[in-house]
Amino acid sequence: MSTFNAPKGTYDLLPPDSATFLAVREAIARPLRNSGYGYIETPGFENVELFARGVGESTDIVTKEMYAFETKGGDRLALRPEGTASVLRAALEANLHKAGNLPVKLWYSGSYYRYERPQKGRYRHFSQVGAEAIGAEDPALDAELIILADQAYRSLGLRDFRILLNSLGDKECRPVYRAALQDFLRGLDLDEETLRRAEINPLRVLDDKRPDVQKQLTDAPILRDYLCDACKAYHEEVRELIGAAGVVFEDDARLVRGLDYYTRTTFEFVHDGLGAQSAVGGGGRYDGLSEMIGGPALPSVGWALGVDRTVLALRAEGVELPLPTVTSVYAVPLGEEARRVLFAKVTELRKLGIATDFAYGGKGLKGAMKNANRSGARYAIVAGERDLAEGVVQLKDMESGDQAPVGLNEIVAELETRLG
Ligand code: HAM
Repeated sequence: MSTFNAPKGTYDLLPPDSATFLAVREAIARPLRNSGYGYIETPGFENVELFARGVGESTDIVTKEMYAFETKGGDRLALRPEGTASVLRAALEANLHKAGNLPVKLWYSGSYYRYERPQKGRYRHFSQVGAEAIGAEDPALDAELIILADQAYRSLGLRDFRILLNSLGDKECRPVYRAALQDFLRGLDLDEETLRRAEINPLRVLDDKRPDVQKQLTDAPILRDYLCDACKAYHEEVRELIGAAGVVFEDDARLVRGLDYYTRTTFEFVHDGLGAQSAVGGGGRYDGLSEMIGGPALPSVGWALGVDRTVLALRAEGVELPLPTVTSVYAVPLGEEARRVLFAKVTELRKLGIATDFAYGGKGLKGAMKNANRSGARYAIVAGERDLAEGVVQLKDMESGDQAPVGLNEIVAELETRLG
């Protein structure tokens, strides 16, 4: 213990659990790298206006959850609560959309910050891996992203997740629906804040989790009934393409998302073993976002998967990822000369890509062997003065317990052969 603890709503990633986190990030990124997505990294903070305009003035994320602050220089910044607005901002700033090759396909991995009420699966600092395909309106692109997320989860061995799919319409049909929904909501028995929300962002009211609100929403008009022909046709094609790819999904006419930029395709990956915070990932099309932040019209689509919740989902299903062994060889020197000789061998082994560790701090044989055991190493190499005088080291197989001398000049090659 020190005087300090990790701030509320955050936690530290420590070995050995941290290895699972890395493996999850890698598993989500792999299908993206394999499909033409290039890696992008943007700053951890942005001009606060970017999120206010992009994510939406009336969203919880912007009104309640942003870590916004003023710098000593007077800039109004915010820690990023999500990645999409930043990635689009960066792509526009670098003119990636003018380089000719649309869509611009990008993936990212990083930390995000939301001042939320902490609970299991909901943190103030969390981790996402995301993908954005910028500048193309093509149902195959929406389908590609959904298929790649499904592939990532399947490659991790997850089974109990579901894909919820909806269309939120476009700038033609959504306003008509919005007005109809507002008419309906005005006639309900709702508290003042909810009524206010109904005026600013009526679709968000559909997402209200309170049972007394949900009960009144049973007969609410449904967006699906208002979709224009173009949106209907687009959505039908997305459904056909992902269905043909063998991806199982559920139509959810009530799915709305916590960010305002979505148009047409929206989806969420939910896991049933997580309790209240069941969304492991989400995304959709955001055809108007570029214009909202001052760019040209660039219809786009993307998603972000939560790494923290994906790890919880793996745990809930009891999935153990096959993690690479941390250490293959552990070197135990007994005495000064052995320390120098074995340290050189350790460096040689590492150069060959063999994961090797060393007993530091001049421990005795017993303590050092304990550490060798803990490291999970398959082999230990031990050398004392007498071994060195004979030009050998002792090679111990940590699984069988067998031990035999091997020539000092042969040991590296011998280990390389044995470890394949
Ligand atoms: P989002 O649904 O807000 O979407 O977040 C995506 C995922 O991040 C969630 O499904 C969840 O797994 C994780 N997440 C969000 N908040 C927290 C939290 N407080 N604690 C732990 N995990 C959390 C977006 O962020 C959009 N930018 C996705 C997107 C990309 N849409 C288009 N492109």
